[in-house]
Order: sequence, then C-alpha cells, then structure tokens
Amino acid sequence: MTQYFELACPSRPENVGLCRVTVATFAANLGFTLPEIEEIKVAVSEAVSNVVVHAYPGAEGLIGLRCEESADGLVISVHDKGVGIEDVAKARQASFSTDPERMGLGFVFMESFSDEFRVESQPGKGTRIEMRKRREAPAEGA
Ligand SMILES: Nc1ncnc2c1ncn2[C@@H]1O[C@H](COP(=O)(O)OP(=O)(O)OP(=O)(O)O)[C@@H](O)[C@H]1O
Ligand SMILES: [Mg+2]
Repeated sequence: MTQYFELACPSRPENVGLCRVTVATFAANLGFTLPEIEEIKVAVSEAVSNVVVHAYPGAEGLIGLRCEESADGLVISVHDKGVGIEDVAKARQASFSTDPERMGLGFVFMESFSDEFRVESQPGKGTRIEMRKRREAPAEGA
C-alpha cells in the first residue's frame, strides 16, 4: 500500500503549524533531506495560510490536507470549500494580492519550492492546490 495521510481541521491560524509539522514528519520518514524539508515547510505554510486568510472571509471552514508518497517523492494537496479564486493566472503572479496589506508572494514560494505546482479553483466552490516534490537522488556510491 502506498504511504499517505489525510488531515482535516478548521481554518484557524494555529493549524498552519499543525499542517506544517505533520507534512515535515511525513517527508522526513520518506527520506527527504533537511534542506528539502525546509522548502516543503514553507510551501505548506503558504498554502494553508491562504486557506486561513482568504478562503472563508469572516468565517471558519475546512482545511483539507493530503500527502501521498509517489515513485520519486511526494504529492501534497491542500483544499478548501471557500470563496475560490476568480482569475487563477492573475492570482499566481508575483506581487498580486487582493489584500493591499499583503506581499502577494505565497503562490510564488509554493511554485518555486515545488517540482510541479497546480492550482484549481472554482469561484463559490473552493480551491485545491497540488505540489509535487522529488527527492534528491542519493549521492553516487552512497
Ligand atoms: N485558498 C484560497 N481561497 C481564496 N483565495 C485565495 C486562496 N489562495 C489564494 N487566494 C487569492 O490569491 C491571491 C494571491 O495569493 P498569494 O498567497 O500569492 O498572496 P497573498 O496571500 O495575498 O499574500 P502573501 O501570501 O504574500 O501573504 C490572494 O491575495 C487571494 O486573493
Ligand atoms: Mg498567501
């Protein structure tokens, strides 16, 4: 059976850390290196923070997190059932934010720390992001 876990929790700020450490432990068990795990932690924090901050304005809702081992690494998905994103291409651009107080860099970090990155969103229904991360090949002779 493929190694995986699923987690569901309310979109509260303290659950960003919960998701981050859970994924970090999962990645460590799969043999990811510490520098890779640091990147994974940043990417997961950004994805989950987006659910906390943007998905349910003035309310709380589901943070859905799933991690699954893949042939060469892992796949992380974060989903919500919130307001969704009108224009995903625009939202992914550096410095774009619907909140003038924010930097608009979350998606840029998620993309740069993933080997493959996808965003699917339907306004009024929710958003799902998927990040694939490959393990560094073991050193020659190791
Ligand atoms: N899960 C989500 N639900 C609804 N809207 C989202 C979601 N994730 C991102 N967005 C929208 O996409 C925009 C860009 O997200 P991104 O994470 O790049 O920047 P930010 O969250 O605004 O700022 P930062 O991440 O730097 O604090 C957000 O401003 C928001 O409008
Ligand atoms: Mg963000």
